[in-house]
Amino acid sequence: MTLVSNDIQKAAEILANNELVAIPTETVYGLAANIFSESGIKKIFALKQRPLFNPLIVHTHSIEELDKFVSYIPNKAKLLAEKFWPGSLTMVLPKKSDVPDLVTAGKDTVGVRIPNHTVTLELLRNLDFPLAAPSANPFGSISPTTSTHVANYFKEGLQMVLEGGACQNGIESTIIGFENETPVLYRLGSISVEEIEAVVGDIAIKNNKEAAPDAPGMLSRHYAPDTTTYLVNDVASFASQFPNKKVGVLLFNQNIEANNIKHIETLSISGNLKEATAKLYATLHKLDTLDLDIIIAEKFPDYGLGKSINDRLLRATKK
Ligand code: TXA
Ligand code: MG
Repeated sequence: MTLVSNDIQKAAEILANNELVAIPTETVYGLAANIFSESGIKKIFALKQRPLFNPLIVHTHSIEELDKFVSYIPNKAKLLAEKFWPGSLTMVLPKKSDVPDLVTAGKDTVGVRIPNHTVTLELLRNLDFPLAAPSANPFGSISPTTSTHVANYFKEGLQMVLEGGACQNGIESTIIGFENETPVLYRLGSISVEEIEAVVGDIAIKNNKEAAPDAPGMLSRHYAPDTTTYLVNDVASFASQFPNKKVGVLLFNQNIEANNIKHIETLSISGNLKEATAKLYATLHKLDTLDLDIIIAEKFPDYGLGKSINDRLLRATKK
């Protein structure tokens, strides 16, 4: 049984002992180990069944700490750090050689982020090493936004989930890399493209394998429920094609009438994209437990966080 506890000191001891602790962040829960512990990092890949070519994000508590593992910070990265850290932004920066290759999948860059969660910031300040942490889910499945999600995923192999409540933002950080000095977006996430562009101007989005061979892990199927999922514009008419199936639907802000729908989830009655984002994964987790034949999700408005939601829903539909 995995212990779910808010004991920061205990979490620190387990991590210092080369073991894993799941940590809360404002985006999703992470599966953390000491970046300098080879055995700890190997346990992350083994428990998640994650391929070794997929690099991990390094989490630290302050910009001053960055000097320990990043060799160069472009000017626009400094602007983004000032604006969004602590927060849901990961930046891929040139690494110092002390960052182990296992963490970065052999790349000469490292993904770094200062999470905005009081519990995990306090934990990080209590440690004399940073934490590598991917999302705390088996490879390819929906990321966890509560300690219960994590404990349900990993009934063995994980000593402790550090309790931090439900994640406020609810989807992963936005990832920005730099090609020469120019920022490029590798993963849509909790901070919208528009918010990033307000700081550094227009940026290119390269969030798939073809566009960004440099950002491994941008797999087309990801964040997926076990139940077959569709993403469509008109949920009611699509649902009518499945008269004999148990259909669950995921909607933005409306309600629909259709007599063969077994379960309806609406993410934000008031049409608030931030609220919808925060509830997205918990709602997908829930729909996945309802013994449905199919889940039909509505396409969200394609701006702001709606773009990030559509990205995750599209990846959830892939086989
Ligand atoms: O919100 C988040 O970012 C969460 C929380 C726990 O911080 N973490 C997270 O980690 O989503 P993960 O491992 O599920 O996704 C990290 C992605 C990888 O798939 C990889 O593509 C990218 O970050 N990444 C990490 N280091 C990189 C690097 N050096 N170059 C390019 N991409 C990198
Ligand atoms: Mg992940």
